[in-house]
Amino acid sequence: MPRNNLSAQGFTRTEAGLPGAAAMTVHESVLDGIGNTPLVRLTRLAASLRPRIYAKLEFQNIGGSVKDRAALSMIRAAERDGLLGPGGTVVEGTSGNTGVGLSLVAAHLGYRAVVFAPAATAAEKIRLLRAYGAEVHLVADFVPRSHPDHLANRAARFAEATPGAWLAQQYDNPANPGAHVESTGPEIWRDTDGTVTHLVASVGTGGTITGTGRFLKQASGGSVQVVAADPDHSAYGGGDGAAKYVEGAGHAVHPDSAEDIWPQAFDTSLVDRYVRVSDKESILSARKAAREEGLLIGGTAGTALAAALRLAAELDESHTIVVIIPDSGRNYLSTYFDDGWLTSAGFLRPAAADGTAGSLLSSPAAGVHILPVSCTVSEAHTELQRRGLEDGEPAFIALDRGTPFGSVHPREVAAAVTLGSLQAALSAGPSQAQEPAARHGVAFTAVGTGELLADVLPDGVRADGDLLALLVDGRIAGAVTGGW
Ligand SMILES: Cc1ncc(COP(=O)(O)O)c(C=O)c1O
Repeated sequence: MPRNNLSAQGFTRTEAGLPGAAAMTVHESVLDGIGNTPLVRLTRLAASLRPRIYAKLEFQNIGGSVKDRAALSMIRAAERDGLLGPGGTVVEGTSGNTGVGLSLVAAHLGYRAVVFAPAATAAEKIRLLRAYGAEVHLVADFVPRSHPDHLANRAARFAEATPGAWLAQQYDNPANPGAHVESTGPEIWRDTDGTVTHLVASVGTGGTITGTGRFLKQASGGSVQVVAADPDHSAYGGGDGAAKYVEGAGHAVHPDSAEDIWPQAFDTSLVDRYVRVSDKESILSARKAAREEGLLIGGTAGTALAAALRLAAELDESHTIVVIIPDSGRNYLSTYFDDGWLTSAGFLRPAAADGTAGSLLSSPAAGVHILPVSCTVSEAHTELQRRGLEDGEPAFIALDRGTPFGSVHPREVAAAVTLGSLQAALSAGPSQAQEPAARHGVAFTAVGTGELLADVLPDGVRADGDLLALLVDGRIAGAVTGGW
């Protein structure tokens, strides 16, 4: 396809502040409200940058996210293949936008929808699925892929046992990337008049980046560069696979997984480059987009935006970057856009540290000690003694990633133990020595280092046994107990 030569100023589609001239779009059905999302040029965030940056607003899909496209495509493919028919049931394990997409398409087409979601899924998201008439089953959080309670296994068993049920399997379903070969890619090529030079997208199942990237590479004769914006800890971009805060993209790996299986929907050969973005930068980028551009975007959009802005700093006027905005910030008003939530996770820290949990970080005993989940009471006891910990000084038992722990996500902590708690177990009888140390933990509270101690301690009073894990940017950076 030929490229048009367009001016460095870009191509004016609508005049700022003057709606009305463009033709109205009339959809003959809800399903026609999926796709054909707009590109919006970032004029404020990119003001000092040389390339044009366009945000593709996937929250404009009728169910509010990019996953509406995959949902419709997968259901249509299942119908074509005779896997789903009248009276059928659509089943998937997902906490996120795919569940919404599948539920709305199922509702429209008269199918039953059954979604398996992790127990930690935000109440708001579960309500949303139920609003579309889906049945939601909550299952265990963050267990190895082979575990019978892993949501994919629960969903698969349900589908097998239910006549007329079809399991969407977005991670391995070719109709997921196929949706983007058919629609997202062509829309970007058409709407940039073939001038796009870089695609930036976050990667969950990989459907978006694979399908869109495949089309754009083909259309451009291979010249469009495909850039994966990936959370710091995600295994896709070379991270350790640890838990993260920005949900919906990246690849976390439970360390007890026998093998790390990547989705078939993700064709890694299409990715020219990974740009790694921390939870904090993703979240702050999303907030900045709302406050400075007037564009309310989600966390994975923040990841992609941060990567696009970094990339743009290396490029010039001859380049046009398209960044995918998978969903809206409306889904995250109680998390990324809430100052209290950010503070409680240690992402926001006031300059004045007096009276905050962060003021305890400088205490000499505030170091973080991590032990693997596999360690027994006697092993943990010996190790804490070897490290010279005081009686009440804690160590965290966390998932063993086989690498030195710099800091750990509280979700990966099984328990906190102290010499005192381990000693009590050992005194109870010799059989306890070989028990997992995590069974003899003490209660602890994870607090953001920006939180006021008076707010986080019960009744504002410090008790001797109080154990605080101190969070900096979402990870345990220190711990204090008792008389600090
Ligand atoms: C919020 C959000 N961002 C990004 C993605 C990634 O999209 P994909 O699965 O196509 O890689 C998803 C999908 O799961 C998502 O829900």
